[in-house]
Amino acid sequence: MLKWWQETVFYEIYMPSFKDGNGDGIGDFKGLLAKVPYLAELGVGGVWLTPFYPSPKVDNGYDVSDYYAVDPDYGTMADLEAFVAEAHRYGIRVIADMVVNHVSTEHAWFKEARRSRDDAKRDWFVWKDVPNNWESFFGGSAWEWDAVTEQYYYHSFAKEQVDLNWANPDVEREIWKVFDFWLDKGLDGFRLDVINNLTLTRDFLDNPVVDGEQQHLYDKDQSGMTAKMAEIGERIRARGDYFTVGEISSDNLTEIERYAGPGGLDVTFNFNFGSVANRDGIVAEFARMQQVYADGRMPTLFFGSHDMSRSWNRLADEREDVAQLLAMLMLTAHGVPFVYFGEEIGMVDFVPESMNEMRDVQGFYAYELALEDGKSECEALAIAQGKTRDKARSLMTWPEGFSDKAQAWIGEVTPDFARGQRMFAFYKTLISLRKTIDFCKPGYRDFEVDGELLTYVRGEYLVCLNFGAAREMENKWGNVTLVLANKDLVVNVDKIELPAFGAVIFKM
Ligand code: GLC
Ligand code: CA
Repeated sequence: MLKWWQETVFYEIYMPSFKDGNGDGIGDFKGLLAKVPYLAELGVGGVWLTPFYPSPKVDNGYDVSDYYAVDPDYGTMADLEAFVAEAHRYGIRVIADMVVNHVSTEHAWFKEARRSRDDAKRDWFVWKDVPNNWESFFGGSAWEWDAVTEQYYYHSFAKEQVDLNWANPDVEREIWKVFDFWLDKGLDGFRLDVINNLTLTRDFLDNPVVDGEQQHLYDKDQSGMTAKMAEIGERIRARGDYFTVGEISSDNLTEIERYAGPGGLDVTFNFNFGSVANRDGIVAEFARMQQVYADGRMPTLFFGSHDMSRSWNRLADEREDVAQLLAMLMLTAHGVPFVYFGEEIGMVDFVPESMNEMRDVQGFYAYELALEDGKSECEALAIAQGKTRDKARSLMTWPEGFSDKAQAWIGEVTPDFARGQRMFAFYKTLISLRKTIDFCKPGYRDFEVDGELLTYVRGEYLVCLNFGAAREMENKWGNVTLVLANKDLVVNVDKIELPAFGAVIFKM
């Protein structure tokens, strides 16, 4: 028996950018509610919502100031409940982003902790008289001076995102309550933010620096992490049929896969595959990944998220055929697919043209550091444009527009509605195929990598994905019927002529 999430295509929704329901230019639960039929038509069975908790939004909600409420920008708790109920009515599960590595400096716990050195909450965070060399993942020192209590506090991301001290059991107890609260609300599981970054130990060894670049060796995957991950997974599973997906801050397959499976979280995000800079080597990495997970566990399959440039630009060279080739791989392979909102209509990257248009904290950090480094404003802008995650965060280009008002929180990209319709239809067909046949079950037959050509059989279906130039392949399967292809091709009894970037599913 497969678990529900093993048969589910997930869809990531970046809260402020999906759909505005009250016309203030920010996506919200009312907007989401109105778009449940859209999600159902696409056919996804689960959505992952980025953080919707109250937050000063230095990092757009990844800086939580209250774990038990909904940010007014997104609506009320009742709006959330109405959305979840509607999604459930359509058979769509909802998972929430849980950010438990750090809180906002505006969180009551931290405000208390910074009152004095012997405050009861002081040890909920990490304080030092003398900082070590750890750098924040956004750049610059990971330590910030607190003038009142005259110590440094640790923040692995922005200085407004202060790390919780998981070495203190009180912190952990409080976080279990948070998990319980949201599961009681009817959510179906969690996406756990940078979960291998938890501060579990009290040793703070300097990270090694190689060629001027800090290696994040001691500030993540600390000793005890594997056991802690297993415990988190276990606790959530023990409560019922819930799903957990971990964000492991690494693009190394070995580090990513070790936390996935029965002794960890259900699955972990495969950045080794999904967040690569370009298509080179993607087929080989895919094959390697499938081997690693051949033990029955599942990898995740995705080509986009709110933290990286859109796959349309990064991986598809802005070509519809390549975008469809990628979609076919993601939706026919063994794994848990995550579609990033807008990908199903071929949305393009948004590039802020000035610092005024920039919204992402990572872009701001890059800009400031470049200026400190002696770069000109123009050079610094170019560096920030490279780093900014705004690229994937611009507004969903609905035919009716995103919002009633023009004052959206971030800029828009120019839509191509005709392309959007073709892409949507392609995704929809793939997702419905994935449901009706054996695409969810583990394993392949006739799995073969021949240069840039990938072929495999899943259930009764043969999938051929050509990541290279036009070529012929031997037809070992005889009489096959075409089910879906991204372009015309010629099929003979003994050979199949595949165009460049051809992607095709046959029924055998
Ligand atoms: C994760 C989130 C990212 C955020 C960071 C810090 O990587 O996906 O958006 O900035 O964690 O919370
Ligand atoms: Ca709104």
